[in-house]
Amino acid sequence: MCGIVGYVGFREASDVIVDGLSRLEYRGYDSAGIAVHTGEDVRFHITKNPIKGNLGIGHTRWATHGAPSDENAHPHLNMSETIAIVHNGIIENYMSVKEWLISKGVKFKSETDTEVIVHLIDYYYDGDLLQAVYEAIKKLRGAYAIGVISREHPDEIVAVRKDSPLVVGIGKDENFIASDIPALLKYTRDVHFLDNGEVVHLTKDEVKILNGNKQEVKKDVFHVNWDVEAASKGGYDHFMIKEIIEQPNGIKETLIRRLDEQGKIKLDDIKLTKDDLEKIKKIYVVACGTAYNAGIIGRYAIEKFAKIPVETDLASEFRYREPFIDENTLVIVVSQSGETADTLAALREAKEKGARVLAVTNVVGSSIAREADDVFYTWAGPEVAVASTKAYTTQLVAFYMIALDMGLKKGTIDEEFYKKMIEELKLTSDKVQKILDEADNIKELAKEIKDEAHAFYIGRGLDYNLSLEGALKLKEISYMHAEAFAAGELKHGTIALIENRTPVIATLTQEKLFEKIVSNVKEVKARGAYVIAIAQEGNKEIEKVADKVVYIPKTNDLLASIPAVVPLQLLAYYVAVMRGCDVDKPRNLAKSVTVE
Ligand code: AGP
Repeated sequence: MCGIVGYVGFREASDVIVDGLSRLEYRGYDSAGIAVHTGEDVRFHITKNPIKGNLGIGHTRWATHGAPSDENAHPHLNMSETIAIVHNGIIENYMSVKEWLISKGVKFKSETDTEVIVHLIDYYYDGDLLQAVYEAIKKLRGAYAIGVISREHPDEIVAVRKDSPLVVGIGKDENFIASDIPALLKYTRDVHFLDNGEVVHLTKDEVKILNGNKQEVKKDVFHVNWDVEAASKGGYDHFMIKEIIEQPNGIKETLIRRLDEQGKIKLDDIKLTKDDLEKIKKIYVVACGTAYNAGIIGRYAIEKFAKIPVETDLASEFRYREPFIDENTLVIVVSQSGETADTLAALREAKEKGARVLAVTNVVGSSIAREADDVFYTWAGPEVAVASTKAYTTQLVAFYMIALDMGLKKGTIDEEFYKKMIEELKLTSDKVQKILDEADNIKELAKEIKDEAHAFYIGRGLDYNLSLEGALKLKEISYMHAEAFAAGELKHGTIALIENRTPVIATLTQEKLFEKIVSNVKEVKARGAYVIAIAQEGNKEIEKVADKVVYIPKTNDLLASIPAVVPLQLLAYYVAVMRGCDVDKPRNLAKSVTVE
């Protein structure tokens, strides 16, 4: 939800921190600030005025408590302004702690939950900054990644991680903390991923990682092989179009690197054996937003290939419905960021009730990746735009591979079908590329609907599931109201909303449902709708009914969602650009929703 950066070393801290924060803006960007130790004192600025010093912390904010304002911007300081902290997360018990601190004479300056942390540290500080932090966090309940500096400790940063991401960057005569890797890549590729409850004590020469009992723990060094370019726009106008265009590569990467010499899927170190699968009586797929929209297609693939009943649920609903979970349950959690609080909470609920948890995520070392029993990494590369695109298509590939692997192990599909589907999967990246090569056609269509107030997406079966993603893309970046409906459901009420020129985007990739949905298109046409159809090459029939048709290359119906989503992503992108929206950072949204 927010981004934090800390630095200690030979460089000007403010340069490193401002640069790092700029690469974390996708985590929230309504205000920012830095604090630097000048050698004598801790100086604090919420602007980019450079402050001289080689130790500092900084923060870019997505407001949860307290409106975006200078007072609420981090870093927050204790009353004597000798200690500064930055925080990503939410302190759930901050009101009771705040009242207790006020009773001790503390004067608060902001409305934030974060400010209680620095006053707690100050309260327990008696010359040992590390100990004061340990004492303070005992009082806190919630999620936090914290960075702390103090006037009395000109060479030290103390940081803590609990339920909010934090990585340590390891340099030569310099060390770093950050919420995410892109903030560090310019300076170091060697990082430690922190686990929950771990505390870091940094100087420019030493990185000490301690557990809850202040015992030092040894951590592996992870070498990051992304380049800074990969996390920057690469010449495109927006991260989103760059990431849409990167999809063929992401699909290929996610698939090809998991095929052995015989063309068989090797699911990394996912240890789901035939015996394990025989014991699994039910699968839940749980996620939020676009990840959920990928999961409902994944359900289809698993039920079809592995013949195991699958239920999908929104992560924010899952644990409040008291789902039936036991040791014969597999829960698949899907999350691009691997930090979504609702999904992480669902994962913990599932594990607590004895389920086995498989995570599908795009971020190595993320909280969800580290807490799941098995992890399938989508190799989409860093996804920076708030609107998820390449993560979605690689999540679909992940599900198809998991479902095929399960089906073959269980014997519910034969070798011939298995190999045929893998060959078809291999062709999807080229099919996506072909659609991208003709993106200008979609730009023309965007002109037709860009000024509308509402748009409807309809489909049947897999195409209905896909329509949910098309509608989410359009509304979250163009702010045009958009809803997806099962095409057969329109006549049960929603069709009352169809007026002259109402845009209806109909997806018709499923051969066996084609006739049915053509009649649904005729229903909305009869009421004046402007229909854009997404259909497989060869289905000329639809041209007699729809106003415009976007053809996708012929493909196996079961895999059609992967190429078919691309026109929907492009349509949303171009409409948003034509409406002058902030495509990469839509209003009210953040890339990683780390609060419930
Ligand atoms: C997708 O375009 C949205 N930004 C949002 O719905 C997102 O998919 C959702 O917040 C889940 O994020 P995650 O995949 O990182 O868990």
